[in-house]
Amino acid sequence: MSQTYAQLRLDLAAALTEFLDPQEAHAEAIRWFEEGLDRNRSWLVSHGEEAVPDEDRKQVSGWIRRRREGEPWAYILGWTTFRGHRFEVTADTLIPRPETELVLEAALEVGGRLQVNRVCDVGTGSGILAICLALETSWAVSATDLSGKALDIARRNAANLGSAVTFHHGHLLDGVPDPVGLVVSNPPYVDPADRPSLQRELAFEPELALFADDRGLAVATELLTVARQRGAAGCVLEIGAGQGEELQIRSLSCGWKRTAVHQDLAGHDRVLMALG
Ligand SMILES: C[S@@+](CC[C@H](N)C(=O)[O-])C[C@H]1O[C@@H](n2cnc3c(N)ncnc32)[C@H](O)[C@@H]1O
Repeated sequence: MSQTYAQLRLDLAAALTEFLDPQEAHAEAIRWFEEGLDRNRSWLVSHGEEAVPDEDRKQVSGWIRRRREGEPWAYILGWTTFRGHRFEVTADTLIPRPETELVLEAALEVGGRLQVNRVCDVGTGSGILAICLALETSWAVSATDLSGKALDIARRNAANLGSAVTFHHGHLLDGVPDPVGLVVSNPPYVDPADRPSLQRELAFEPELALFADDRGLAVATELLTVARQRGAAGCVLEIGAGQGEELQIRSLSCGWKRTAVHQDLAGHDRVLMALG
């Protein structure tokens, strides 16, 4: 007898349980159905007993093979969502994380308070921060990245979502004309010493997007310094757990006058704000 969609979902959850905990496996199976096969839960209720065509069955087997090797679902699918928008992602871009919305929200709040009209997203990756800022404000938005391949994806995402962002290929704020306005960034901040204990999925993401020298603080520290020298209105940066205090000290020593750190829902340091 041929496999039904209801059976396929159960088989899929069972296959995912080989390397995910049961709750994650169940949630991921539902995502694969919704995002990969374009079949949501209510579709399953009315069509669960239909036979799965060969094409869908082969596709799901291929996805399971890749996922078993540790490849993240977003790379297999080729896109993910952030703030309700669909962003293309490839192995050249970090996969956007939900907590980065905290950076976006802080940037909107700080930029509004300082009445900025320009913002630069440094290390834009797939472009999420720059593109959402362009969609949600009337500010002139620019973005930079050291990875030309990531910038190609960011440009494509900006075009698909109809947002106006000026992209610059280079280190930190290089190529961005003055005045830079507000600086927003989710820089690489993972300590290379933590590499052995990281989730295996991270091995699929670009090293340039993850790791920074000096216990993960090197890129953030250099950006805080350069942004201050360039007269930026402020800096809003995503940071790693436990990095807040040290980065506040470094912000003050490179000339910023006020700093604050916000925690994420898990209580970890997540957003640093440095203001003039
Ligand atoms: C953590 S990822 C963030 C990507 C995206 N903003 C997001 O939140 O999903 C860091 C990004 O910074 C870029 N990057 C690393 N070092 C850089 C540098 N010195 N100057 C500019 N971009 C850099 C990486 O290529 C990567 O795209």
